[in-house]
Amino acid sequence: MKIRRCTPEDTELVAKLGRETYYHTYKHLNTPSIMQAYLDEAFPHEKIRSELEDQNSHTFLLTIEEEVAAFSKVNILDSQTDLQEKEGMELQRIYVLEKYKRRGLGKTLIEHSIALGRELGCSYIWLSVWKKNPSAVSFYEKMGFHQAGTRIFKMGEELQSDYLLRREIS
Ligand SMILES: CC(C)(COP(=O)(O)OP(=O)(O)OC[C@H]1O[C@@H](n2cnc3c(N)ncnc32)[C@H](O)[C@@H]1OP(=O)(O)O)[C@@H](O)C(=O)NCCC(=O)NCCS
Repeated sequence: MKIRRCTPEDTELVAKLGRETYYHTYKHLNTPSIMQAYLDEAFPHEKIRSELEDQNSHTFLLTIEEEVAAFSKVNILDSQTDLQEKEGMELQRIYVLEKYKRRGLGKTLIEHSIALGRELGCSYIWLSVWKKNPSAVSFYEKMGFHQAGTRIFKMGEELQSDYLLRREIS
């Protein structure tokens, strides 16, 4: 298993992976038009490239025998989508491809993020997760996150309610 930080050269791969995993996870919970609007807003190549160029944003790719198995994205400082406290680190995305689920890869990426947060002097890691994704909520609870509030997320034209979850970094 290898984990590496993505660079702007990975734009196409990261955009494709982001679109496909998001679609796969949430397609049954959204209308096709809302889903399409979100995918178009979140994953254009120029946007992904600028995220990969951002020093305060880190996208990690986990591969097993050269095959992509999972990825994650964390943000610090003003690259966080909300809160934006200097001691915080946001886990914005974490996706494990279907055939690799329940093999400890999600846990590995959480631990990897926490180690990076510690190195960067962050005191907590936070994330937001849609209330309608209970399996992710259960996973995060297993990983030591606790509820720290809620927020409204704009998905296309629809407003969705998220839990804000947080875990201290000691
Ligand atoms: C949520 C996700 C990242 C978990 O990754 P994973 O590699 O399957 O999880 P792991 O195998 O590392 O599991 C770690 C722990 O969480 C538990 N867990 C994992 N998925 C779980 C679930 N759906 N329900 C309850 N517990 C779960 C595991 O049992 C394990 O517990 P243990 O350490 O006591 O054995 C993965 O299922 C995924 O990519 N889901 C779709 C995308 C998604 O919803 N992302 C989050 C968007 S906010």
